[in-house]
Amino acid sequence: MNLQALFGLDGRVALVSGASSGIGLHLAKTLAGAGAAVALAARRTDRLDAAVAELVAAGHRACAVPLDVTRSETIGPAFDAAESALGGGIGILVNNAGILYAGRFVDQDEAEVSRVLDTNLKGAFLVAQTAARRMARAGGGAIINVASTAGLRAAGFLSSYAASKAALIQLTRVMALELAGKGVRVNAVCPGNIETDMHQTFRDGGLEETLLKRIPQRRFGQPADLDGAVLLLASDAGRYMTGTAIPVDGGQTLSWM
Ligand code: NAI
Repeated sequence: MNLQALFGLDGRVALVSGASSGIGLHLAKTLAGAGAAVALAARRTDRLDAAVAELVAAGHRACAVPLDVTRSETIGPAFDAAESALGGGIGILVNNAGILYAGRFVDQDEAEVSRVLDTNLKGAFLVAQTAARRMARAGGGAIINVASTAGLRAAGFLSSYAASKAALIQLTRVMALELAGKGVRVNAVCPGNIETDMHQTFRDGGLEETLLKRIPQRRFGQPADLDGAVLLLASDAGRYMTGTAIPVDGGQTLSWM
């Protein structure tokens, strides 16, 4: 078996949203390492310059494109800019941009609810739709929505966030159904607690010890822990997979009783 042919991404072009930090930044490097040309998309491209320079210096093809997923007018131009800089159609989307709101359901005001849903659900929807239309025209592609274990199980203090991620998982399934005939596979990864800027909210709230007790593997995840699932879903290795939502969580979604 040729693992490089199975999991490799040579000749593919990928776009990662929210690529300026954390999981998005890491996954952009992973996809490039597997052979893909990668567009790193974020609101402020100056935050991407160092990462793009590092990738290019290592012999990869990479570019930075401006994208604010809550401003729909930026989405098409981001894909156009990526395709023109990288010289090919986007065949892999890692739909990663997202924000967290942690607080009691009764306390979250309307502006915060809108911010979370506009980014995590409507923004992800519109980015995926733009990708899907292009991939369908080109004969296929792979979309990976970055959801969360919060979309699979109920966790306190995450009402709008959990609702947005559960909706993203359901969107993944409907997209998979509608797009299978066009060669576009749509899957979700559901990270557990991954140590990024987002995780800092829990650290600041003194919740780390409590959270750790709920993770059977007794450690928080690192962005690199998502590499296996994302490479599987992005590559030919995942060619018969669509509509799945894969937890990558150290067993957090399991329960003893
Ligand atoms: P992060 O805060 O480091 O990354 C989020 C990225 O999304 C940032 O680069 C941010 O600039 C970008 N972003 C936010 N709003 C945006 C917008 N309107 N347009 C474009 N980009 C925007 O946090 P992390 O952890 O890397 O999060 C990445 C994804 O992983 C998010 O969707 C998050 O919900 C998800 N996730 C993270 C978990 C964790 O424990 N860190 C657990 C489960 C899911």
